[in-house]
Amino acid sequence: MENYSPRVILSTAISIDGKIATKTNDSKLSSKDDIQRLHKLRSKVDAILVGKNTVSRDDPLLTVRYTKGKNPIRIILDSKGTIPKKSKILQSSDKIPTIIAVSKKTPKKNLEKLQKFPIEIITVGKDTVNLKLLLKKLSKKKIKTVLVEGGGTVNWEFVKQGLFDEMIITVSPFLIGGKDAVPYLNGTGFSKISNSPNLRLKSVKRLKNHLVLHYEKL
Ligand SMILES: NC(=O)c1ccc[n+]([C@@H]2O[C@H](COP(=O)([O-])OP(=O)(O)OC[C@H]3O[C@@H](n4cnc5c(N)ncnc54)[C@H](OP(=O)(O)O)[C@@H]3O)[C@@H](O)[C@H]2O)c1
Repeated sequence: MENYSPRVILSTAISIDGKIATKTNDSKLSSKDDIQRLHKLRSKVDAILVGKNTVSRDDPLLTVRYTKGKNPIRIILDSKGTIPKKSKILQSSDKIPTIIAVSKKTPKKNLEKLQKFPIEIITVGKDTVNLKLLLKKLSKKKIKTVLVEGGGTVNWEFVKQGLFDEMIITVSPFLIGGKDAVPYLNGTGFSKISNSPNLRLKSVKRLKNHLVLHYEKL
């Protein structure tokens, strides 16, 4: 990858029909074995990154729990600094290193709210978080691997901008359907198949009824 150096791995569990959550925001698609696999992977990366909606809807902790290992740095994309004060991410920020990436659009009062927590605030981008600049800043902090864990809007931005190296998708044996469910890639989508990045299937692992597909970008 030319202009940034952390290795970016996109990681998600999807239903057979390519959704990552239902219209009511139920995203529990992984099995116990798959969660354990994911936590092993988390313990090997330097950082985990998610979007603001994933924090406000799922309230994840983004730590390593189902295996032994160190917790990666948590990075939240939050252009206007609106993540809830009561979120597990902010509430556990005294124990687990946390970066909130914001844009210049963040109102002063939101910045002041964030500054009350022992987190690092990185301002990159005018209206929204500039991913390329953020990755550059992360590489200067010696962050060499970033695991992107969604949601659909964030996944799409990394794919659209070609800012990923690997993609790990667990296909879970569920059908969700519906136009209001959250798709793996939100946003506008590509107009032509030829716009898609070229991917090579590196491995397929079966975990009972779940399939773990590991692709790398060519
Ligand atoms: N199945 C799974 O593995 C899985 C994993 C994770 C999440 N999910 C599900 O995904 C859903 C959330 O997905 P979502 O698409 O609504 O939201 P999301 O991708 O979690 O967050 C998107 C938000 O992040 C902020 N953001 C800031 N800078 C950004 C940038 N450069 N690119 C993209 N986003 C940026 C934006 O809000 P601001 O403009 O306010 O900053 C944007 O609306 C939830 O239902 C969750 O349960 C499923």
